[in-house]
Amino acid sequence: MCGIIGYVGPQQALPLVMDGLRRMEYRGYDSAGVAVQDDLGAVGVARKAGVLANLEKLILDDDLKLPGSTGIGHTRWATHGGPTDRNAHPHRDVTGRVAVIHNGIIENFAPLRAELESAGVELTSDTDTEVVAHLLAAQYDARPGDLAAAMGAVCRRLHGAFTLVAVHADAPGQLVAARRNSPLVVGVGDGEMFVASDVAAFIAHTREAVELGQDQLVSITAQGYDVSSFSGGSADFRTFHVDWDTDAAEKGGFEFFMDKEIAEQPQAVADTLLGHFDGSRIVLDEQRLGDEELRTVDKVVVVGCGTAYNSGMLAKYAIEHWTRLPVEVELASEFRYRDPVLTRDTLVVAVSQSGETADTLEAVRHAREQKARVLAVCNTNGSQIPRESDAVVYMHAGPEIGVASTKAFLGMVVANYLVGLALAQARGLMYADEIGREFAALEKMPAAISETLTRMDRVRALGKEISDSRAVLFLGRHVGYPVALEGALKLKELAYMHAEGFAAGELKHGPIALIEEGLPVVVVTPSPKLRPLLHSKLLSNIREIQARGARTIVICEDGDDIVAPFADTLIELPPVPVLLQPLVATVPLQVLAAEIARTRGYDIDKPRNLAKSVTVE
Ligand code: M6R
Repeated sequence: MCGIIGYVGPQQALPLVMDGLRRMEYRGYDSAGVAVQDDLGAVGVARKAGVLANLEKLILDDDLKLPGSTGIGHTRWATHGGPTDRNAHPHRDVTGRVAVIHNGIIENFAPLRAELESAGVELTSDTDTEVVAHLLAAQYDARPGDLAAAMGAVCRRLHGAFTLVAVHADAPGQLVAARRNSPLVVGVGDGEMFVASDVAAFIAHTREAVELGQDQLVSITAQGYDVSSFSGGSADFRTFHVDWDTDAAEKGGFEFFMDKEIAEQPQAVADTLLGHFDGSRIVLDEQRLGDEELRTVDKVVVVGCGTAYNSGMLAKYAIEHWTRLPVEVELASEFRYRDPVLTRDTLVVAVSQSGETADTLEAVRHAREQKARVLAVCNTNGSQIPRESDAVVYMHAGPEIGVASTKAFLGMVVANYLVGLALAQARGLMYADEIGREFAALEKMPAAISETLTRMDRVRALGKEISDSRAVLFLGRHVGYPVALEGALKLKELAYMHAEGFAAGELKHGPIALIEEGLPVVVVTPSPKLRPLLHSKLLSNIREIQARGARTIVICEDGDDIVAPFADTLIELPPVPVLLQPLVATVPLQVLAAEIARTRGYDIDKPRNLAKSVTVE
C-alpha cells in the first residue's frame, strides 16, 4: 500500500524525498506528493494524481523550488477517494500549517469528519486522511510546542491501520511519525534522520535502522530520535542493521525490476539457504520455539495470500512427506472468519514476502489468540508479521520491488521446506544425514535455476506468439498444480488476461469445457523417471486437450521423449528431484507472463490496480 518517507537533516529535502519515493513507488502509484518545510517553518506542498513521473513533471513545469531541509513524501494506493489531485497526499489543515501523509485506513474517519464539519471545518478531499491534519492542528494549538504529544492525542482517537507522518510550520526541523498495524522504520544517519515505510527508501544514505512497535510514535530532528507510546510513555523498540545494499534496490541495467528479480533467483535461493544448516542441523533465524514445542505439534496450518498461498500449497506436499503431520493450507483472508480449529499444538506457518500483509497479520493474531504457535516465513526484516510470531525463517531474497512476486516465491518455497525439515529433525523423523542430503539437493538448485534461465529465448518467443490470446490455462498434478496456480496468477496480474490454474485431473470434471481451437494450455509435467504413474496420467490429459484443439505448451524434464510428440511448444528443464521441480518449473511461467505483458505494452513492475504490500483487509 502507500509508500511514505520523511527526512530531516542538513541537505535539501526535496531531492532526497523524491529519490525515496522512486524507490518505493512499487507500494502505490495512484498519486504522489511532497511537503517541504523551509527554514522559517513554512510548508510548501506539491501533489499530483498518477505515477511519480507526473509529480516530477509538475515540479519541473511549474518550477517549484520547495526549498528546505525537512520534508515528507507519499506514493498512494487509493482506498478512500479516487486517484485524483485533490485526494493526493500530503493533506493539510485549513491554515496550511500542518501537512500529513498516511498509509492505511482510518476506520472511524466518518464520525471524525462529521465532528469536524459540525465545527465548521471545510474538508477539501474525499480521503480518510484529511481528518488527521485538522485534528493535529487543533491538538497542537491545545499544547503548543509539543508536536509529539499532539500526534499521540490524535492517534488515541483513531481506529484502524495507520502510519502517519506530519510536519508543522510552528515546529521547524521536526517530523513526527506514528504507527498502528502499518509499517514504519526510522533510518538513523550521521546528522540526518529518515522515517519510511520501507528501508529501501533510505538505504542509499544509512543502513542503521529502528523498528517501531505497535502504537508507538517517533519524533525526529537532525540530531536524533525519540520513541514513545501514544500517551507519551516509554516504549520498547529494536535497532537493526540493514544488510541489503543500495544496488539491491536498483534496476542494475535491466528494463524492469521484475526482469532483474527473475535473473536474481539463483542467488535468492542460495541466500535463503545460507546459514540455515550448520552441518548437521537445520537452523531457524529467530528460534523462539524450542525443539520440545516442535515435537508436540500435531497439525500444521500454512496461511498466506496470493503467491505466498501458492508457496504454502507446495509446503503441504513437502511437510507432509517429511513429517507425516497433517498440513492445511488456507488463504489468510479467509482464515479467521471461519473459526478454524486451532490448539496449543497447532503450528501456524505465516508466509509473507513483505511481512506486512494485513490479511496474514490478522491470521497470525487470530492464531495466537487461540494459543496456537506461529512461525513466520518472511523476506523483510523489521516487519510486523515476524515481530508478532514465535519463530522466523527469513528468506533473505533481497528487496523485491516488482509488484509480481518472483524471487520471493522461490525463497518462500525453500524457506517452507526448511520449516518442514526443522520439524522432521525436532521430531526425530529424519537422521542428520538424511536432512543433510535434502539440504545438499536444495544447494544444487541455484545451478539448476541458472541453467533454466539460459533457456528462456523460446519462452519469450512464445510470449510474443500468444500475446493476443483471450485466455491461457495452466495444468499440473502434485507439485505441478501449485506451479500452475502461480503461472496463472502471474499472467492475470501482469497481462490482465484471463488465466486459470487447474489440477490436471480435475479437467474432466468441468474445465475441459473451456478448451477451444487454439487455446494455449500450459502443462507442467513431472519427471517420467521419478513419477512414471503421474507422468502417464498427465500425458493422457495432454492428449485429451490436444484432441479438442488446444495449443499444448509442455514444460517437461530434459529428454522426455514420451511427451514431446504431443507438445506444440516444448520447454525442457534440467532434471531435479520431485519436490524441487517447482523451483525450476515456475521460472518459464514468470518469463512467459512478463513477455506477454510487455508485448501488450504494459508496465510489468506496476500492474494496474495493484500494490506490492497490501496493508488493508
Ligand atoms: O507480501 P506478501 O507475500 O504477504 O504478499 C502477498 C500477496 O499480496 C502477493 O503474493 C501477491 O499475490 C503478488 N503480487 C503476486 O505476484
